[in-house]
Amino acid sequence: TDQPLVLGIETSCDETGVGVVRGHTLLADAIASSVDEHARFGGVVPEVASRAHLEAMTPTVDRALSEAGVTLADVDAIAVTAGPGLAGALLVGVAAAKAYALGLGKPLYGVNHLTAHVAVDQLEHGPLPKPCVALLVSGGHSSLLLVPDVASDVRPLGATVDDAAGEAFDKVARVLDLGFPGGPYIDRAAREGDPASISFPRGKYEDGTYDFSFSGLKTAVARWVESRERAGDPVPVADVAAAFQEAVVDVLTKKAIAACKDNDASHLLIGGGVAANSRLRALAQERCEAAGIRLRVPRPKLCTDNGAMVAALGAELVGAGLAPSALDLPADSSLPI
Ligand code: KG4
Ligand code: ZN
Repeated sequence: TDQPLVLGIETSCDETGVGVVRGHTLLADAIASSVDEHARFGGVVPEVASRAHLEAMTPTVDRALSEAGVTLADVDAIAVTAGPGLAGALLVGVAAAKAYALGLGKPLYGVNHLTAHVAVDQLEHGPLPKPCVALLVSGGHSSLLLVPDVASDVRPLGATVDDAAGEAFDKVARVLDLGFPGGPYIDRAAREGDPASISFPRGKYEDGTYDFSFSGLKTAVARWVESRERAGDPVPVADVAAAFQEAVVDVLTKKAIAACKDNDASHLLIGGGVAANSRLRALAQERCEAAGIRLRVPRPKLCTDNGAMVAALGAELVGAGLAPSALDLPADSSLPI
């Protein structure tokens, strides 16, 4: 076919992801994660992540190529996450991508991690309607984006002013003595709880912006649990989990729907690790239906950090005829959209 074959490399956090796509077709999505090495610290340790990327890079590239049934010689372009993310972790991916691009004589495309989270949905649901609104929620970011064109025009509408949504899940899980990463544990515990049993604050709910704030909520949950413990009362873990989760997803979905309405977007896309949350999916579906908006959520493996999303965006850039990056492409931990 004449669609470009793109190899994508993602190392912005704790997953070494290598994906291979042809146009909008996913051929391989290989992942090596260092999440287990971070679990005992209760959060991602940058130095540990960088070293793990270095060790996993070549084997993961090899695995992706063989999964896709192609060789390096077949690759038309190399795409890599240039930022935002952990500086040392990004550097490993960017250096590897440069080496492959230089060695193969193929163009290099440095891409934005958040935009890649949006582009990946095309591998599953086809071309994105223009414009759409994207809600990206993970351990590292919580953003609302307006996407008139994923290759060339992505506009930030708002973002968290403190903790990311996933970070709040992880911290509350810690307060409740659940495991790491905390999101899946809270999700599970909440199914047995009553979200209305405790009223937790919803930061920036009525402030008229598309920004989020989760640190006040996290502190409120911690205080509530502490006061229970101090009084010698049992902590109703399921109820706390359900009430906390409801506060997060209520704000996320309210602002996402408002962004769609205000920008005449007929489709809402949700991505990032927190998109796996069952209550977020259910409430988003319910509120989208009520507002006449179509909801698109990629399957969980494509929502969390992966290489396929980087390859997907790379293929989009090649397809749009955009110029490749220079070979001195920097890794930028706070790369803007
Ligand atoms: O996208 P991701 O794999 O990595 C980055 O942070 O970039 O997202 C991981 C985050 C963690 O904070 C994790 O607790 C959260 O996604 N998460 C969830 C669920 N599954 C993962 N949060 C809520 N509910 C879930 N089911
Ligand atoms: Zn991410």
